Amino acid sequence: MGQKERKRKAAFPHAAVVGFPSQNSGPLAAVPPGFLTPGLPSAFSALSLSNLPEIFFPSMTGYPNLGLHTGYTRIGHYSSCHSILLVGEGDFSFSLSLAKAFGHASHMVATSLDTPETLNDKYRFAMENVRELRALGCRVGHGIDVKTMTSNVLLCLCYLKFDRIVFNFPHAGFEYPEEDVRQIKMHRRLLKGFFLNAKEMLLEDGEIHVTHKTSSPFKEWNLQQKAERRGLVLVERAPFNICDYPGYFNKRGYGVVSDTSFPIGRCCTFKFKLKK
Ligand SMILES: C[S@@+](CC[C@H](N)C(=O)[O-])C[C@H]1O[C@@H](n2cnc3c(N)ncnc32)[C@H](O)[C@@H]1O
Repeated sequence: MGQKERKRKAAFPHAAVVGFPSQNSGPLAAVPPGFLTPGLPSAFSALSLSNLPEIFFPSMTGYPNLGLHTGYTRIGHYSSCHSILLVGEGDFSFSLSLAKAFGHASHMVATSLDTPETLNDKYRFAMENVRELRALGCRVGHGIDVKTMTSNVLLCLCYLKFDRIVFNFPHAGFEYPEEDVRQIKMHRRLLKGFFLNAKEMLLEDGEIHVTHKTSSPFKEWNLQQKAERRGLVLVERAPFNICDYPGYFNKRGYGVVSDTSFPIGRCCTFKFKLKK
């Protein structure tokens, strides 16, 4: 084990190298099979996460190719052998926690609804986290609305498919008190739009993960029903243990308290697959 690997292990004792992914084992495969949407327009057929034109990721240079890794690493519910799309990020500390555990992030795309300017105003460490993510090879996108992300041509999201699509603690913002039926309807609309889009971006055996509080009034959002109505099936309600993700700070994301964490209380990761 090299010095770099020893350092990573010390920082991420939960992360374990568990094997050799078949999908990355080809000779420098630019992208795992199925990562790109089948039927891709010919102009995009040569696109992969590792050769997207600079215009899509203007600040990224010299990031590592997919397929260079020899083993894979697990942290919490996630593995470095999966292509992972993270949406609705707060200060990007969750994405960075995964990326650091994996030791690279060339198989990850991390996005926020916030623009870089807003992120800078809201969170002390967001842009620093983004810089670290990019240095590890993660593609980062801002201004990505989960309700319309499949039509996001600029980030090329509309042409990509993923093994995992992750939305931690979705929240539509504070218009009304949390128990107010109008507020609950806003959250339901967010979930509906997210599931509609995310299912289009999922590989055949991929999973959509939503970590969500299970107490009232959050359970009134009808998360499971929203997903099932969009052709998804619940495969697991897994415990969510925040300690599994060192460095992750769940952020409120709104107003002057954006940068503070909220008590996660009773919550779990709902995992959905496409209905066969
Ligand atoms: C409670 S915060 C959680 C932030 C982050 N996921 C975390 O765990 O720290 C809710 C997040 O949902 C995001 N969000 C709300 N509506 C969204 C939308 N339409 N598209 C993408 N993200 C959205 C907000 O920008 C905010 O970052």
